[in-house]
Amino acid sequence: MRPPILNIVVLISGSGSNLQAIIDAIAANQLHANIKAVISNRPGVKGLERAQAVNIPTLTLDHKQFESRETFDRQLLQEIDQYKPDLIILAGFMRILTDEFVNHFNGKMLNIHPSLLPKFRGLNTHQRALDAGVKQHGVTVHFVSNELDGGAPVLQAVIDVNENDSVESLQQRIHQQEHIIYPMVIEWAAQQRLEIINQQVYLDKQPLENPAKWINNQLIN
Ligand code: GRF
Repeated sequence: MRPPILNIVVLISGSGSNLQAIIDAIAANQLHANIKAVISNRPGVKGLERAQAVNIPTLTLDHKQFESRETFDRQLLQEIDQYKPDLIILAGFMRILTDEFVNHFNGKMLNIHPSLLPKFRGLNTHQRALDAGVKQHGVTVHFVSNELDGGAPVLQAVIDVNENDSVESLQQRIHQQEHIIYPMVIEWAAQQRLEIINQQVYLDKQPLENPAKWINNQLIN
């Protein structure tokens, strides 16, 4: 049976390569979702062009035009609500969100963060991973909670760090993984395989004690 279509709104601040991966997965019929809108807090970014190229409605809400984080978030919340999305997808959206906003979309918002959370929350994750000398690094898709990069993790792609890796080489390999695992998790939601209840993630009704792992192109759960 074909799963119902999941309505999503994607929030971006930049290049939107993850947005592109989602667009491509939908076009390839691998992801049963409908992008109702793409919203950027930065004008003129490439992600907006990517959406416009396939006729997805776009909106720019420039945070610099708002007097406070609260007023920006309230406007953003109203814009998103118009579309009645099932899920809000943060895809390189570089804003800290207010509690009011996060609570309003509780359990309905996913983010992708380029580290194996809880390691390296925040910015410059690849440099910090290199500085710490970790043997493995990666990227996490997680639900958004009031704690920055602290919401319940769903799926992590894990890569080995090589001796000669640089920020750029890690970024490149991790981006490739992001483009696989983000559409995958969204499809789990579309197929109603994914739930979160009281910060506990369930996949196929089973509680995830640890995030599922994507290693060497294999899902390990
Ligand atoms: C990605 O590295 C993602 O993990 C982080 O922001 C970046 C967005 O890249 N949250 P793009 O705009 O999707 O290319």
